[in-house]
Amino acid sequence: MTTTKKEVINMKASELRKLYLDFYKEKDHKEIGSGSLIPDNDPSVLFTTAGMHPLVPYLLGEKHPLGKRLVNFQKCLRTGDIDEVGDTSHLTFFEMMGNWSLGDYFKEKSITMTNEFLLDVLKIPQDRISVSVFSGDETAPRDEESARVWKELGYHDEQIFYYGKKENWWGPAGQTGPCGPDTEIFVDIGQEKCSDDCQPSCNCGKYFEIWNNVFMEYNKDADGNYEKMAIQNVDTGVGFERVLAVMNNAASVYETELFIPIIKKIEELTGTKYEEKAYQYRIIADHMRSATFVLGDDKAVVPSNVDQGYVLRRLIRRAYRYLVQMNAPENAMCQIAEVIIAKYSDNYPELARNHDFILTQLEKEEKVFGRTLAKGLKIARKIIDNLGDAKTIAAEDVFRLYETYGFPLEFTEELAEEKGVSVDIDGFHRLFAEHQEKSRQGAAQKFKGGLADSSGDTTKLHTATHLLNAALREVLGGDIYQRGSNINPERLRFDFSFDRKLTDEELKAAENFVNKVIAEKIDVVYEEMSVKEAEEKGVVGVFGDKYGERVKVYTVGPYSKEICGGPHAKNTGDLGTFKIMKEESVAAGVRRIKAKLT
Ligand code: SER
Repeated sequence: MTTTKKEVINMKASELRKLYLDFYKEKDHKEIGSGSLIPDNDPSVLFTTAGMHPLVPYLLGEKHPLGKRLVNFQKCLRTGDIDEVGDTSHLTFFEMMGNWSLGDYFKEKSITMTNEFLLDVLKIPQDRISVSVFSGDETAPRDEESARVWKELGYHDEQIFYYGKKENWWGPAGQTGPCGPDTEIFVDIGQEKCSDDCQPSCNCGKYFEIWNNVFMEYNKDADGNYEKMAIQNVDTGVGFERVLAVMNNAASVYETELFIPIIKKIEELTGTKYEEKAYQYRIIADHMRSATFVLGDDKAVVPSNVDQGYVLRRLIRRAYRYLVQMNAPENAMCQIAEVIIAKYSDNYPELARNHDFILTQLEKEEKVFGRTLAKGLKIARKIIDNLGDAKTIAAEDVFRLYETYGFPLEFTEELAEEKGVSVDIDGFHRLFAEHQEKSRQGAAQKFKGGLADSSGDTTKLHTATHLLNAALREVLGGDIYQRGSNINPERLRFDFSFDRKLTDEELKAAENFVNKVIAEKIDVVYEEMSVKEAEEKGVVGVFGDKYGERVKVYTVGPYSKEICGGPHAKNTGDLGTFKIMKEESVAAGVRRIKAKLT
């Protein structure tokens, strides 16, 4: 197969956004906004990793208020790819263009629409495209239908690759649930093959994986069996940054309009050149973008040592270290965040809304970590002074500097070079790999909980969360609003906007309010209504394009009316006794309550 000579095309990010949404809207898909980067009430995952994540209840069969065909842009964050960042296509934060068929069309129509968008709208030459389909195994047959459709659309046998579960199967997102074969689309960006065997599954950078249509036709049960489902969904995800790179003939996602202003800012701050230090620049740019979006989410996550806060801290610190290494001035992170906020606020207004919060948190983290780094420097010097005849810094010391004081290997190497000693690099890599394996096992454990746990306990706590929200509005006034919520089977955690500590009396009054509503044994009523109707009825929730034209509302008597996807307890009488365990500050203007039901 010969590859068509690449044309130079210039497509703006805003143009691509519009082309994509218009194409699917014309084909009767309804646009939904991006959900939060931090999943609602789902203790099993830290971040939204795909556009399908906020749609799980609908992929499991619940009716979506906007119908059976949906399209959107979703903010996503995947920490699993963190070690790949620095190459040409991997990112931690990215935008996923998604479209879904909820029990409507299936493989043929889905693939045909994908192909029409790629060839007729984006005008990507067909001979630059290859696709992969599921090759089949003992649990599910080869996906002949997808392969047939691609062939009928004019793809030659050598453009169609068959791979197994690892490559061409998606889900379930937890232990059980909907899943199925997928078909992935790759664009050849024109560089030489890395070897004779080079093909789309190769990581050398020749093939950009841009698009994935998942055909959710199976349900995996707790025993590991795959049963055909009665309803078949299509879940399609497209990498926005990657398609933009393809549309501009860029060699990497970083050389697109989305990153160029960030790269320029880093050049200005450090007096270095992207071409000389592409790897470091990419890490700084990627991590700063992720950190800005996490901090900019209305959920008000702050750097900490647990959960989302820990990931956020790691991203900030890694970016900061590289900036320090390149002699960036104090406050460089804030200056980079300003560029990101300006670039994205039209599409994600929450960034402008949380502008001050983002900058304050970055400044704070810079101060704390700056001190740690300085301490590490002293210790590193001492280690080197005490080396005596050894002349090599031991792997354990290099690793301690890395783990406790945030020193990247290059930092220690530079210091060692200055003093004329060497570093046990192999030993460091060995310890690093051991450590990574432990973290990976930890992360896998975290994911094991499966999808949003809808066990009885979490469902009741979910209803209690609505009642607590109502209670706080009653006790503190209607100005407070929800900034975050997290539920596990043991407790609820509710973050809300308020600028001082609550008194014991206020906490008691809120607790009593919830227990009073429980004692009244009120049915929790579910209904769908238009956004306008919800606004008129004083329903609590974030009104924005996130919900589309129709919303789901849960009502508890005269006390609570909230927009929510559910699920909820049937009657407040099922909840037991509500108890507030803790009230604390999480960030300026944000308080957190932890409570349980006994
Ligand atoms: N869920 C699939 C993915 O993440 C398709 O959107 O690739």
